[in-house]
Amino acid sequence: MHSVPLLVESIESINQITNNPTDDDDRARTYFGSFCDIRSSSTMFLDVDCSISSSPITTSCYLDVEGYRFAMMETTSNVERTYCITFKDVEAAAGRIEGTAYRTPVLTSSSINSKAPGIDDRQFFFKSEAMQRTGSFKFRGALNAIRSILESQQNPAPSSLSVVTHSSGNHAQALALAAKLSSNTKTKVHATIVMPQNTPLVKKNAVQAFGADIVMVESTNEAREEEADRIVAETGATFVHPSEDPRVIAGQGTVCLELVQQVKEMGAELDAVIIPVGGGGLASGNLVALRALLGTRVKIVLAEPAVLDDAKRSFEAKELLKHASDNMLDSVADGLKTTLGPNTWPIVRDLADDIFIVTENEILQATKLVWERLKVCIEPSAGVGVAVALSEEFSQKYSSNQGIRNVGVILCGGNVDVLKIATRMQAIGL
Ligand SMILES: Cc1ncc(COP(=O)(O)O)c(C=O)c1O
Repeated sequence: MHSVPLLVESIESINQITNNPTDDDDRARTYFGSFCDIRSSSTMFLDVDCSISSSPITTSCYLDVEGYRFAMMETTSNVERTYCITFKDVEAAAGRIEGTAYRTPVLTSSSINSKAPGIDDRQFFFKSEAMQRTGSFKFRGALNAIRSILESQQNPAPSSLSVVTHSSGNHAQALALAAKLSSNTKTKVHATIVMPQNTPLVKKNAVQAFGADIVMVESTNEAREEEADRIVAETGATFVHPSEDPRVIAGQGTVCLELVQQVKEMGAELDAVIIPVGGGGLASGNLVALRALLGTRVKIVLAEPAVLDDAKRSFEAKELLKHASDNMLDSVADGLKTTLGPNTWPIVRDLADDIFIVTENEILQATKLVWERLKVCIEPSAGVGVAVALSEEFSQKYSSNQGIRNVGVILCGGNVDVLKIATRMQAIGL
C-alpha cells in the first residue's frame, strides 16, 4: 500500500492527471470519486494499492491504481505533494508502541454534549490522552522514535543508544520514560534532556525519576538548541525533536488511528475532529491518519489560544509565520507555545480544514468543565480543544445542517499544577 496525498481542485484537475482525459474520464471518477467529494476543492489522501513510476516523455510520473495507469502531468505540479510521513508510517508506529503505550479511553458526557451552543444533537467523543503514560500523547511519539532508531540499528544491535532533546514539558518526560522502557539486557538506552532554568521542580523531578540526565540552560530557544547541538556533536547522541521529528509525528498519529476504531466500536462514525496545535506534531500525525482513514468527509479543526495564534495566522496567510512580537505568549495552555516547523507546516497547510482560537477565560472554563463532568484532570492545553468544541464559531460552522454530529476531541494531556490553575479559575469568578 502507498499513501499518496493529492490536491484535488476540481473535476478538471482529475481529468488532467489521467492519461487521456476523454477516454479515462469515467475511470477517474470511479477511482478518485470514491475517495473524496470531487465536486469541491479539497485535498484527497489516496491510500490504495498503487505505485508511482517515472516517465521520460510527456509526464512527470505515472500513478498505477488497481491495474489502471494515470499519468500525472507536469502541468499539474500542484497535484502531487509529499510529506515527511505517510499513513504507512503511522500504522508502523502503532505496531511499535502497542502493548507499551496505553490504548486510552474514549469518554462521552451528555451534560457536555448539551452545552454546544444552539445544537441539540451534538455527540462529543473525548480521547483521553491525559491518561496516557507520562500524562500526555507525547509518549507515543517518543516511544516510536526510540524504537525506530533501535530497529534501524539492528544488525548488529547496539549495546547502547543515546538520545537527546530540549523540552521543559511533556516531551521531556515522555522521552525519559520511553528510553527507560526501551532498555534491556542487551541495549541500554539513555536520554539527556536540555531544560530551561525556569522549568518547575516537579517536572525536573519526574524526568530524573525516569533515569534521564538533565542539562539546565538559559530560558531561551537559542540556548536550548545550541546546547542540544553541542551534545549531539560531542557524544554522537541522536536528536529527537519534540514536534518536527517524522518518527515523533508518526507516533502521535496513532491517537486518531485508535479514536476512529473506538468510535466505530461505539456504533458511530466521526464527522469532525478537534486537535490542539503547538509545534504541530500532534496535528500533522493525526491529519495524515484521519485523511487516510476517513478522507475529506471528516472535518479537521485545529485549536490554539488566541495569544499564541501563529498557526491560525500562518494558515490564513498560506505561509509559515512565527509568533507576533506583540503577543503575550503567556497562555495558561503552556504546551502550545511552540510554533509549526518545516515538517509540520505543509501537512497543516494542506490537510486541515480550519484553525480556531479561544481566549484564556474560555480555556479555563472548558478545563474546569472537564474536571467536573468527565472526572479527568486535563491540563489547560487540552482545555483549548474543548473550548473550541463548545464555541459559537464551531457550532455555527459545523452543525447538523452541515452533516456534522459526531465530534472527536483530543484531550492531549493532564500534567497540571491543579492548585495554580484553580487559583486562576477563582480569579475570573469560575
Ligand atoms: C499537553 C500537550 N498538548 C498539546 C501539545 C502540542 O503538541 P505539538 O507541539 O505536537 O503541536 C503539547 C506539546 O508539548 C502538549 O504537551
